[in-house]
Amino acid sequence: MTQFVGAIDQGTTSSRFIVFDRHGAILAVAQKEHRQIYPSPGWVEHDPLEILANTQEVIGAALARANLTAADLAGVGITNQRETSLLWDRETGRPLCNALVWMDTRTDELVQHYRRDGGQDRFRDKTGLPLATYFSALKLRWILDNVDGARTQAESGRALFGTIDSWLAWNLTGGPEGGVHLTDVTNASRTMLMDLATCAWDDELLATFGIPRACLPRIVASSALHGTIRTPPLDGARLAGILGDQQAALVGQACFAPGEAKNTYGTGSFLLMNTGTEPVRSKAGLLTTLAYRFGDEPPRYALEGAIAITGALVQWLRDNLGLFDSAPEIEALARSVPDNGDVYIVPAFSGLYAPYWDDSARGVIAGLTRFSNRGHIARAALEATAYQLCDVVAAMEADSGIRLATLKTDGGMVANELLMQFQADMLGAPVVRPRITETTALGAAYAAGLAVGYWSGTQELRDNWGVDATWRPAMPAELRAHHQRSWKKAIGKSLGWID
Ligand code: G3P
Repeated sequence: MTQFVGAIDQGTTSSRFIVFDRHGAILAVAQKEHRQIYPSPGWVEHDPLEILANTQEVIGAALARANLTAADLAGVGITNQRETSLLWDRETGRPLCNALVWMDTRTDELVQHYRRDGGQDRFRDKTGLPLATYFSALKLRWILDNVDGARTQAESGRALFGTIDSWLAWNLTGGPEGGVHLTDVTNASRTMLMDLATCAWDDELLATFGIPRACLPRIVASSALHGTIRTPPLDGARLAGILGDQQAALVGQACFAPGEAKNTYGTGSFLLMNTGTEPVRSKAGLLTTLAYRFGDEPPRYALEGAIAITGALVQWLRDNLGLFDSAPEIEALARSVPDNGDVYIVPAFSGLYAPYWDDSARGVIAGLTRFSNRGHIARAALEATAYQLCDVVAAMEADSGIRLATLKTDGGMVANELLMQFQADMLGAPVVRPRITETTALGAAYAAGLAVGYWSGTQELRDNWGVDATWRPAMPAELRAHHQRSWKKAIGKSLGWID
């Protein structure tokens, strides 16, 4: 019987289920968006029960589309939006509150509090992360401090903490009736509670942040037999892969050798470079993070340039300003003008992440004149994605000492040819789009498929990778330098906006 591998891709805006064959080709896909809940400025929440229901719905829809059942799947992997945190009751399965999404900034006072004693980088050696609202530890701390009964229940082990991978894995494998409570090394590395060197929860960090160990999941490899799914329509399938979505894309792009890197353009954009079995400490504002761990092999590490807002800026122009009806229309609008008319947008909606790490930065539209129109705004929005990526590529090259010969890209925005060309122009290096752009889901499928022996090893996965399109730099050096200078000026206006 021909078998396939399934991947749940639970992202910031939607949940998807994709079925792949041995060559990475897609047999079926289903997708559903969930609500973005904004209770007050800077707060972003998701309803975990809605995410769970949507996940189950898309699994059913994709399987039905390809006329498949659980028995046709050799294994199933989960990949997820990272850092987004929740606490739920292990007896009822009910969340104690909505999930706090990675881009939520309500923990900014807690961040300030912890920075006072030792500064922003006080935990960098151990965790690879700066103190910022982005990571899970302080989101969990906020829940423990603000939700009735949360701390008592977490201390007694009645309430369970998890990022979205843990929430889905626990529910799929039985929930209150024996669900497994675990998270993989990549997701754990984003909590700020794990020691990078040992891949274990760290007592000193737990004590510093006031987090009870009893509520934490077990940390496991990214690719291993994690449990059997006990809920229809996947009842009986093996859950064998878990990876944070950016690490999954690194795997899906077959970046298995040190120095290999990819960028994913999603809600935000995330550039990850594989650094091999040693964590490389960043001096240039990048994150040190787990890349993946396959079974009993040593864990692999990555350097990451995380940008909070790229695709989300396009959504903001669509939803908040009503500049167009659907996101892909931005390209035609941007092409309606020959250039940006000297308009620059810094989309610091959640502060600025890499390489600046400034929670107090806010969004800026700079360079407006009476001449500026909708086309210039659209163009400046697309260009903001490229400038932000150039900033993290520069940091990556400084930290790794490796010049990126080409940029492997994926994610929704790679369909935008204007952006791809501008990205190559600003980087001064070719930008490459692979044949399979669903690399996030593919990475989770690869992790699951390796664990169950569906794929023999990473060479077979490398063979699945191929180029679809390449954009080469063509912009005059003077113009590039002008853009770089103007972008830096706009960044200067954004930094430190909140007193
Ligand atoms: O760290 C946040 C990241 O994992 C979110 O990715 O693709 O859901 O926007 P995405």
